[in-house]
Amino acid sequence: MDTIIKKFHAVSNALGIKWAPFHVPLSRRLQTLAVAAWMCVVLFGEVACVLLFIRLIYSSYWWLALLYGFWMINDIDICNKGGRKVEWVRNWSWWRYYRDYFPIKLVKTTELDPSKNYIFACFPHGVLCSGASGAFATNALDFYKIFPGMTCNLIALGSHFKVPFLRELGLAFGSCASSQESLLYLLDKKKHQGKCVVLFVGGAAEALDSHPGEYKVTLSRRKGFIRIAMKSGAPIVPVFSFGETDVFCPANNPQGSLLRKFQEKVKQITGISPIFPFGRGIFQYSFGVLPLRSPINTVVGAPMEVDRNIEPTDEEVDAVHAEFTKRLIDLFESQKSKYVKNHENIHLIIT
Ligand SMILES: *[C@@H]1O[C@H](CO)[C@@H](O)[C@H](O)[C@H]1NC(C)=O
Repeated sequence: MDTIIKKFHAVSNALGIKWAPFHVPLSRRLQTLAVAAWMCVVLFGEVACVLLFIRLIYSSYWWLALLYGFWMINDIDICNKGGRKVEWVRNWSWWRYYRDYFPIKLVKTTELDPSKNYIFACFPHGVLCSGASGAFATNALDFYKIFPGMTCNLIALGSHFKVPFLRELGLAFGSCASSQESLLYLLDKKKHQGKCVVLFVGGAAEALDSHPGEYKVTLSRRKGFIRIAMKSGAPIVPVFSFGETDVFCPANNPQGSLLRKFQEKVKQITGISPIFPFGRGIFQYSFGVLPLRSPINTVVGAPMEVDRNIEPTDEEVDAVHAEFTKRLIDLFESQKSKYVKNHENIHLIIT
């Protein structure tokens, strides 16, 4: 037996594979399971749900598909009307194991005012927004306790809410679509107060720039969220997830490379950046699609007040945008020493 194990290790070493130890505490195994299950949802969930729906149509349960289809069409606009949050789903212990895997932390720097609505402008997107989605799409990070009187809605691409079955999970998280209608609805102070609308400003474009140890954000031409803030009068809160870019090691894709051109093309067509999420496997640390166990600290900065202006001119938008960019850099620079290794040499790159 011993010689077999020795040989196995010799072969592994030759191949450069690093195995997980045999004796791992149960809690850590559950964390890995939680993250692996989540990766299955992310990678295969949409295709699986569409196939399931089609399979149902061609089965003796076709009437179920029909009923659900009718109901979904009737319900299709809910993602623009505040969504349908289910606290029970946000409370699942799945998300607490997911949180502890990295681990993810949510850090407050100032109090928020529950009589206002806020735009949380989150950076960086990373490959899968692992930190911010844990913090704002679930209750695992105790958002309601950290920000008393506040609630949060994560904003996602509208196409996710058109996938049968999986849309219900997205809606349960409290997610809403990224349309102007949806954002202005959520931020409407006459309808509700204390809402934090969580936007990934850099979106899929920023995801392509996610590489460990680098902080490159897509902001200089992103002005839609500034217009929304001005139209609604909602303050903008810079939110920065330190470590978000460290949890996956995607292939190198510099501007102009063949891989980058392919990714840009798919993004243009589908709105989603195709990135193979190189991280680790379940039983070994050398390859696979699980994220690495590397801490993510999602830091919520101080709100920047924005004057209400229903028809802002381009110059007015540019001025607010410049001020916000400065605030984001300030947040990054003032916090990085706590969360970034080698922080003296790491700066925020804005494209
Ligand atoms: C969710 O958890 C919070 C505590 O974090 C609790 O106050 C609330 O009642 C729970 N809600 C449901 C529906 O389980």
